[in-house]
Amino acid sequence: MSQTPIGQAKHIRVQHLAEAKSQGHKLVMLTAYDQPTAQIFDQAGIELLLVGDSMGNTMLGYQNTLPVSLKQMAVAVSAVAAGARRALVVADLPFGTYESGPARCLDSAVKLLKAGAHAVKFEGGRRVAKQIELLSQSGIPVMAHLGFTPQSINLLGGSRVQGRDAATAEQLKAEALSVQKAGAFALVLEMVPAKLATDITNQLSIPTIGIGAGSGTDGQVLVWTDMAGVSDWVPSFVRKFGDLRGALTTAATDYAAAVRSGTYPDQGHSFQ
Ligand code: KIV
Repeated sequence: MSQTPIGQAKHIRVQHLAEAKSQGHKLVMLTAYDQPTAQIFDQAGIELLLVGDSMGNTMLGYQNTLPVSLKQMAVAVSAVAAGARRALVVADLPFGTYESGPARCLDSAVKLLKAGAHAVKFEGGRRVAKQIELLSQSGIPVMAHLGFTPQSINLLGGSRVQGRDAATAEQLKAEALSVQKAGAFALVLEMVPAKLATDITNQLSIPTIGIGAGSGTDGQVLVWTDMAGVSDWVPSFVRKFGDLRGALTTAATDYAAAVRSGTYPDQGHSFQ
């Protein structure tokens, strides 16, 4: 089906992503957890907004993503959906809301679509293939997630690069094929050697979106607080494209100094 190219699309749809891959258009995704950042990123031309369960570490002060609930995700999804006009809103299914089977997974996904998401993402390959199949058949687009999968941090023994040796690399390639076969419309590859991510990208017809996976994927995603320099620690693959922590610190200290010195509020900012 021919349609408006992604660059001119008023609303990004999953169909645009498949076309973007065939045209060599690099897809850009950022996380967002609230309305104002979603609006800023949407207006900046970010094509995909991921309401990631990284919200647990970045916004809620948790050690990892495991405590995040479906209710918390739904609140964030409705805020992001309110800020997004053009971007495709993808929502993470949090830990414990999809692993046990397709019916549970469908139930969870429906809640996030009702909150405003256009698609859901969840972690795993073959073990969640039935979930991907049922959701796709039910009209819910699924983005898969392989490589380092943060919800399995306890099993993986920490935040580690996956697929470094030949056997695990082959396993990852097979997992990637299985999520495509099950009906996923895109695949996130997290913390995978660049060559392996490129090989997987070349073997798939669906687009891959990398994070810590080199430049050979069809698109890139970053956690926005890492990208903009809010986080006090970032993984080695992150480039900081701003210094929001510095900018906010300056704004807060300037405000405090103005209040304490009596220069704020001044006449121009008071009702007469
Ligand atoms: O939750 C998240 O932010 C993610 C990205 C790291 C891909 O899943």
